[in-house]
Amino acid sequence: MTDITNLIKKMSLEEKAALCTGAGPWTTTPVERLGIPEMIVTDGPHGVRRSEDIHNFITVSVPATCFPTAACMASTWDVDLINKVGEAIAEECIATNVDVVLGPGVNMKRTPLCGRNFEYYSEDPYLAGGMAISFINGVQSKGVGTSLKHFAANNQESQRTTINVEVDERALREIYLPAFEAAVKKAQPWSVMCSYNKLNGTYASQNHRLLTEILREEWGFEGFVVSDWGAVHDRVAALEAGLDLEMPGPRDRRVRAVIDAVHSGKLDESALDEAVRRILNIVFKAVETKKGGSFDVVKHHALARRVAGEGMVLLKNNGILPLKNQKHLAVIGRSAKEAHYQGGGSSHINPTQLDIPFVELQNMAGGTKLSYAEGYPKEDSFDQGLIDDACAIARSADAALLFLALPETKESEGYDRPDLDLTSHQVALIKAVTAVQPKTIVVLNNGAAVLMSEWIEGTAAVLEAWMMGQAGGGAIADVLYGKVNPSGKLAETFPLKLEDSPAYTNFPGEYGAVRYGEGIYMGYRYYDTKKVPTQFPFGYGMSYTTFEYQNPRLSSQTIQDVDGLTVCVDVTNTGKLAGKEVVQVYVHDHKSSLARPPKELKGFAKLELMPGETKTVTVSLDFRAFAYYHPDYKQWITEDGEFDILIGASSTDIRCSETVTLHSTLELPSILNRGSTLREWTEDPRGMNVLAPLYPQMQNQMQAVFGGDAFEHIGMDPMGFMMDTPLMDVLHFIDSSLPTSPEETVDELLVKVHKIA
Ligand code: BGC
Repeated sequence: MTDITNLIKKMSLEEKAALCTGAGPWTTTPVERLGIPEMIVTDGPHGVRRSEDIHNFITVSVPATCFPTAACMASTWDVDLINKVGEAIAEECIATNVDVVLGPGVNMKRTPLCGRNFEYYSEDPYLAGGMAISFINGVQSKGVGTSLKHFAANNQESQRTTINVEVDERALREIYLPAFEAAVKKAQPWSVMCSYNKLNGTYASQNHRLLTEILREEWGFEGFVVSDWGAVHDRVAALEAGLDLEMPGPRDRRVRAVIDAVHSGKLDESALDEAVRRILNIVFKAVETKKGGSFDVVKHHALARRVAGEGMVLLKNNGILPLKNQKHLAVIGRSAKEAHYQGGGSSHINPTQLDIPFVELQNMAGGTKLSYAEGYPKEDSFDQGLIDDACAIARSADAALLFLALPETKESEGYDRPDLDLTSHQVALIKAVTAVQPKTIVVLNNGAAVLMSEWIEGTAAVLEAWMMGQAGGGAIADVLYGKVNPSGKLAETFPLKLEDSPAYTNFPGEYGAVRYGEGIYMGYRYYDTKKVPTQFPFGYGMSYTTFEYQNPRLSSQTIQDVDGLTVCVDVTNTGKLAGKEVVQVYVHDHKSSLARPPKELKGFAKLELMPGETKTVTVSLDFRAFAYYHPDYKQWITEDGEFDILIGASSTDIRCSETVTLHSTLELPSILNRGSTLREWTEDPRGMNVLAPLYPQMQNQMQAVFGGDAFEHIGMDPMGFMMDTPLMDVLHFIDSSLPTSPEETVDELLVKVHKIA
């Protein structure tokens, strides 16, 4: 074990400052005289993108398995599978001499337009957190590090390096932070990557509250914080805020700035030492994992195929799938031959091999004749001839498979999508083909929601195959032919139209700021609350078999919040094929002091069932499943009352519901203050207690001031008016009858209230 404290003592100020900025695009600064090696970090998150020349920013990367993108991974809802992906990626890191892989990304899909949604898991923090935990545990179990990114509130690419995200505390705590929080608390990633954007006025890279108070002091993060590439503006301020490693390097001026700040007394050297300690802890941890060797290309490709198959979501099926014994299939669409399997930007992998959907179909088709038509042009342009050719083969076939991918660069890091549409050519193609061939199956390759209302009705089936990784072509064939029974469920809502989406009026922001005006009502929380119909709801996905839910039961009808609750339900495969079901557990709070969404995902499980088989699913709910974040108490709170436990096959397909009565064990301090309204005083038992003696006098005085029926003259309910007026202002009306000023009176009452507390 390296004695890091001793090592830091031996390091010069220059060496310490240099260690806190990268030596190159992907390496940390070594200190040869002290035996401190360089550490290699590379992207992430669905495979290893390691430059052949590690000292060059963008070069050809060494071949690595391109796993399905995060959108597809999350749609598996299978934490064990994602753990295996993590292990496999770690093996590839070891073989390619990489210490830390830059991922996973757990930013919320606030808007379906975000160009990088394919790299993120979900619109739900619980699901995203669950995926991240198992991914990180998988990677780190092999002695390779992860970098949880992009911390925090990086939910759009438009102006990503400058935008000021204005988000209220409750939405931050309930929506945008919990996936990070869960991953940090339950998996301790070796590093966390701060995001480019500002959060409520301060760059994430210089945000002390985020990087130190929340991440380290509240959540107990033990690793180092690295900047997103180029996210640091003021190196010294960033260091003081808790940002340990600036990437990329070299940046001599930054190093100099740190040295100068120590010399001038602006920066306490102990802050620098702390950053150095955090980085060195990981540098020496990484060294313990011997690098080199090779990885099992075939096995990893097979795993990628499995994940892709489990993540694909069957959105519509009139019974045509799985494919049966069609004699002639028309395969239309260039993505059948040019697999669209990953998005643009830093996550782009150089795959070890690539499955072509058309070839994989041929391999499985047996005696079926497959004819092919390109269907649509590579660019977003229009070519009627291609549509005519497609219709000609569709007409003569028994069914058509229509492969459609969004234009290659439409979904990428660095910019957002302008719309959620397929190209107008593709829409025309679907309409034309389905008009001549009603048995048309659409296979989509995209990284996030697309709109379908214009064309879905004419189709026989729709398979959301995502950006499905290098083995996705095989996985599509597996699903279409029923070798794999689809079990993926949407980790994001597919809206009917863009205007329905929750952030529509607050995206991408103006004057350098984006206001998260929808607050906690994001994703299904919004659609549920506003009763906005969707194309496909969160959690939705079909199977070739059917499942029945029976006999829901709770470990207890009455619980204390800290005890949690165990939920069980029996699920039976009532169809003729083996299949997998994702059972989702949502919690609905009957009544709360602050408004809450109608339901929130708090547990899930995936299980496999043979035809006729029944299994019991068990899901545990903890304190947090019932709690919400109260900005005034500055903590997660529970309140006494009833909660429905909703067990469903999607967020809108609730199959059973049970009710539990919860007792909160929290003893919360009174939050009454000088601005509290009369209602808040009367609803707080401690407040009412001290106010009670004054109350009759107050009422009399109000009568005297306003006269008996004064309020009637202006058509106003006096109580309605009074109750929502601050007590202080109420007292101002009757000032002359009070022994002390309203300010003194309220302050005295507050002292009494807080004494009781
Ligand atoms: C991205 C990160 C990535 C880094 C290094 C940045 O532009 O936002 O996700 O890890 O580049 O490639």
